[in-house]
Amino acid sequence: MLSLQSNTHQSWLLQVAGNLNEILVDHAHCEYKAAATAMSIMGTYVDHRDLVVAMTVIVQEEMEHFHLVMKILDERGIPFRKQRPGHYGRELNALLRPHEPDRAVDRLLVSGLIEARSCERFSLLATHVDDRELSSFYSSLFETEASHHSTYVRLAKTFASDEIVKARLNELSAAESQIIGRGNPLPRMHS
Ligand SMILES: [Fe+2]
Ligand SMILES: [Fe+2]
Repeated sequence: MLSLQSNTHQSWLLQVAGNLNEILVDHAHCEYKAAATAMSIMGTYVDHRDLVVAMTVIVQEEMEHFHLVMKILDERGIPFRKQRPGHYGRELNALLRPHEPDRAVDRLLVSGLIEARSCERFSLLATHVDDRELSSFYSSLFETEASHHSTYVRLAKTFASDEIVKARLNELSAAESQIIGRGNPLPRMHS
């Protein structure tokens, strides 16, 4: 259902277990970036009514998530601050084809894959993190992020045929697995 071609390696859980505060700060950045991406996609394709409505819903939900993470940061006395970004988003965005409608398909599918990976990782955190507040928070996000994944894939199909979208999703998903599989020394939601 989530279109991912690999499962997260155990080493990621070990990496984040000792760095949960840093993961929380990164998580806040992820929610903000997810809202900004949806806003940007909406701005490019304003004449696609269905897309515009769907993006406004995603922007709102991601900003709600952002506020929830900020509340947890505040309660724990963790300052929200700039962080060096990992390689994941940059490398995925480098895969976008330059010309329309291919670019629209790729932007939507890459966004959908990021949502899918977030989902997979939230469910891992929900199961493995000892901190009860955090594990229930991560499990509460799963459903919404899964619906964002489906929305992005559905919208990609308004720019190309089902077969074309399916084939491209397969290619991008294989690339996503390679990118996430390389890991990153910085503990991040997508390291
Ligand atoms: Fe979110
Ligand atoms: Fe999302």
